Amino acid sequence: MPVVRLRAMNVLIHVVVALHIIGIASLLGGFLTQMKAMGAGTARFVPAMLHGALTMLVTGVALVGLDQADGRSVNNIKIGVKLLVLIVILALVYVKRDDEKAGKGAFAAVGGLTVANIFIATLWT
Ligand code: HEM
Repeated sequence: MPVVRLRAMNVLIHVVVALHIIGIASLLGGFLTQMKAMGAGTARFVPAMLHGALTMLVTGVALVGLDQADGRSVNNIKIGVKLLVLIVILALVYVKRDDEKAGKGAFAAVGGLTVANIFIATLWT
């Protein structure tokens, strides 16, 4: 019985990791579609970026809870840094979501911070 429960938990965690990856795809993909426009100063934060950032927050927090419920150790410092970086991303995208032009600096910052978070997630072990 415990074995069955553990497997179900594993599947659940992996499903949420998959949703976490879909969130990155949306956030980073939205950014990439605007890169040419960014060079011209006309980039805007597309809805995919806002929804991707929100997905990262919801799935990330869920993963922390699920990992802890499953007795897995969570690297609190790494997660804390990822959370802080994401909050900055989310704040920028949310505030400027209706602006027709996001501004080069803010737009580049969101792209840079997104890529930084991907490397933090994968290199910080
Ligand atoms: C732009 C923001 C983010 C990016 C690009 C990102 C990226 C990633 C990637 C690539 C992974 C898979 C690699 C790994 O297992 O370490 C991952 C896993 C994870 N992320 Fe994020 N993340 C972001 C935000 C967050 C936030 C805000 C939280 C929590 C509040 C979070 C919590 C987690 C947890 C707990 C895992 C481990 C899943 C597991 O293996 O059990 N992430 N993230």
